[in-house]
Amino acid sequence: MMWPRLIVAAFCLTWLPVASAQVPLPKPLTRVTAADLEGGAKAYTTYCARCHGLDGSGGMGPPLARPRLRRAADDTAIIDILVNGIPGTAMMAAWSLSEREITQVTSYVRSLGRRPAEALPGDPARGHAVYARAACATCHIVGGDGSGLGPDLTDVGTRRGSAFLRESLLDPGAARPERAVPYEPYAYPAYVIVRAQPRGGAEVTGVRVNEDTFTIQIRDQQGRLHSFRKADLQRLQPVPEMSLMPSYRDTLNRAEINDLVAYLMMRRAAR
Ligand code: HEC
Ligand code: HEC
Repeated sequence: MMWPRLIVAAFCLTWLPVASAQVPLPKPLTRVTAADLEGGAKAYTTYCARCHGLDGSGGMGPPLARPRLRRAADDTAIIDILVNGIPGTAMMAAWSLSEREITQVTSYVRSLGRRPAEALPGDPARGHAVYARAACATCHIVGGDGSGLGPDLTDVGTRRGSAFLRESLLDPGAARPERAVPYEPYAYPAYVIVRAQPRGGAEVTGVRVNEDTFTIQIRDQQGRLHSFRKADLQRLQPVPEMSLMPSYRDTLNRAEINDLVAYLMMRRAAR
């Protein structure tokens, strides 16, 4: 049985140089042809639209159809992001793209930035009032106010697109924020709900805060942190469709949802 080890070796050989890449970045295109933009659009649709939206208006990832990007002032900065990813976030290095595709998709992202800004139907000031009335601050922090069972929303308008925010309000179990896991090459859903049944103890349902091979930490709905050795659990089960956030589909009307989305899209990082 020699061949499984060979496969492992082959994996190491292909992954190691990627992990320690110190190669010069591909140069941005100086003359962008229609064919380049077409190639860029194709790569974008396949590899980027899932998180940044087909039209660049954002999704789980930030909108790219903006004239200025927070982390990418110029083409070289975009290329750097595509080659190296943004460590600690769901933005992974685009390993499947060739150098040419990387430069083409960069020019395409720039072209998205020249599109007119997205027009949102709601009113941010009214949205602020809805936010207060619906007591969102019992689970969210904006600018230091509130408490934090859910994600901090201070700069959510720089991190997500309006369609994703709308889905978060209407169907929180379907809009899953992702985060990077340091020891895995892919992003994973954050705020996964798990059910843990300790031997001879009460079942705990809550958000998985951390997990390794032997232990798991769970924050329950009351905000209490539970830490378990997996060996002490009778059952440990993810509940992928569940969210601790209630859906506002039936408690807020269409106009209120529009206003909330407009308010949330204005929560931008200072820069
Ligand atoms: C799994 C989801 C995901 C995919 C797929 C993805 N991105 Fe991202 N991207 C993100 C997230 C999340 C961020 C924000 C990271 C942060 O700053 O916290 C981001 C940030 C960026 C930024 C910086 C934006 C800014 O406002 O400064 C650029 C540029 C970018 N991505 C381009 C791309 C391109 C081009 C592709 C396709 C090759 C791509 N991304 C694929 C999730 C993704
Ligand atoms: C009981 C706690 C709770 C309440 C109340 C709550 N949320 Fe949430 N919210 C969460 C959790 C937990 C998440 C993380 C994603 C998930 O589990 O669905 C979340 C996710 C979100 C997201 C997505 C954030 C991101 O970074 O992707 C938005 C936007 C949001 N909530 C807005 C609101 C608004 C607006 C209200 C009030 C109308 C509200 N939430 C009320 C717990 C709550």
